[in-house]
Amino acid sequence: MSEHQTHRVAVIGGDGIGPEVTAAALRVVAATGVALETTEYDLGAARFLRDGFVLDDATLEELRGHDAILLGAVGPAIGDTRIPGGVLERGLLLKMRFGLDLYINYRPFHGVAGSLAAGTSFAIVRENTEGPYAGEGGTLRYNTAHEVATQGSVNTRFGVERCVRYAFERASALARPRLTLVHKTNVLTFAGNLWSRVVEEVGREYPEVAVDYNHVDAACIYLVENPARYGVIVTDNLFGDILSDLAGAVTGGIGFAASANLNPSKTGASLFEPVHGAAHDIVGTGRANPLAAVSSAALMLEHLGEMAAAQRLARAVTDFDGDVASLGTAGVTAQLIERL
Ligand code: NAD
Ligand code: IPM
Ligand code: MN
Repeated sequence: MSEHQTHRVAVIGGDGIGPEVTAAALRVVAATGVALETTEYDLGAARFLRDGFVLDDATLEELRGHDAILLGAVGPAIGDTRIPGGVLERGLLLKMRFGLDLYINYRPFHGVAGSLAAGTSFAIVRENTEGPYAGEGGTLRYNTAHEVATQGSVNTRFGVERCVRYAFERASALARPRLTLVHKTNVLTFAGNLWSRVVEEVGREYPEVAVDYNHVDAACIYLVENPARYGVIVTDNLFGDILSDLAGAVTGGIGFAASANLNPSKTGASLFEPVHGAAHDIVGTGRANPLAAVSSAALMLEHLGEMAAAQRLARAVTDFDGDVASLGTAGVTAQLIERL
């Protein structure tokens, strides 16, 4: 992409530490010389509490028209009973993931010095539009002694295959191409069988990729004991959610973990956000680690075709050897900018 092209980016700082880490990421991006034309969208728990707005279809269409969306985090503090669970998660974040068909949640991890996974890199490719997140189910006889609640998992051949194919593409690009399907095929036999068959079938097109399978419970052991065994992990929406927080903790802390919600067919703007949430427990303390947001912005630059800047930014993050805890948000941001 030419140096003079500006990219139209929708920015949703959101709640808690979201605006803090997003502002830091935008300052670091500016230091790479890439010009972004940003439009701020005031969305999230604070906005909802003010005027009841979550995300309407018109705003979703506006977001779709951008080149990318950069998001901090949205959601109320845990225990805040003013907003029922799901109003923001389903109404805002999942509405964007589903509505913009962001069917891949790509989460790369690089073990920082001193972490359990120091020096190793792997990625989680999480299916991002189906599984238990699809919203299948409902409640009967609500709040009676006979209440029934069901919450099914939706797995389509189409959805699983496009996710698995993306994961194989990523895996085949590795120096040591390998892919691990993580599921629970011994219990979730219908969905597990579909995922296994699709991995086997698509895998035939990628003979260079070594394919492995772990049950999700065992994967929690291996991620802690031997994260170096993984290259690309492909898994469903819920397992991918849970494993990414574990992977974040193992590679140095959730404050380092980046993610890209991708629509590879580009029928909607892709969305880049840290794996972590609004972390209301540390908001305003200056202690939020901005590196997850910065790495997410690097993934955004890559998606925008700004390869050189994306690589410089990603390298600045992986080479970062300052003490994040003592430097804090401002200190880490300043050092990154200085190194760029
Ligand atoms: P969380 O990720 O916000 O926090 C979990 C723990 O990690 C907390 O102790 C927090 O202080 C710490 N932490 C998180 N990010 C950090 C950072 N950058 N630097 C240092 N420490 C960090 O998860 P939670 O407490 O379960 O959720 C809080 C709210 O955020 C909820 O409303 C939840 O729904 C929402 N959430 C939003 C997103 C998102 O917008 N993508 C993701 C996860 C959670
Ligand atoms: C994540 C978050 C979201 C998820 C929540 C906030 C809906 O935890 O991006 O990992 O479960 O996908
Ligand atoms: Mn999560």
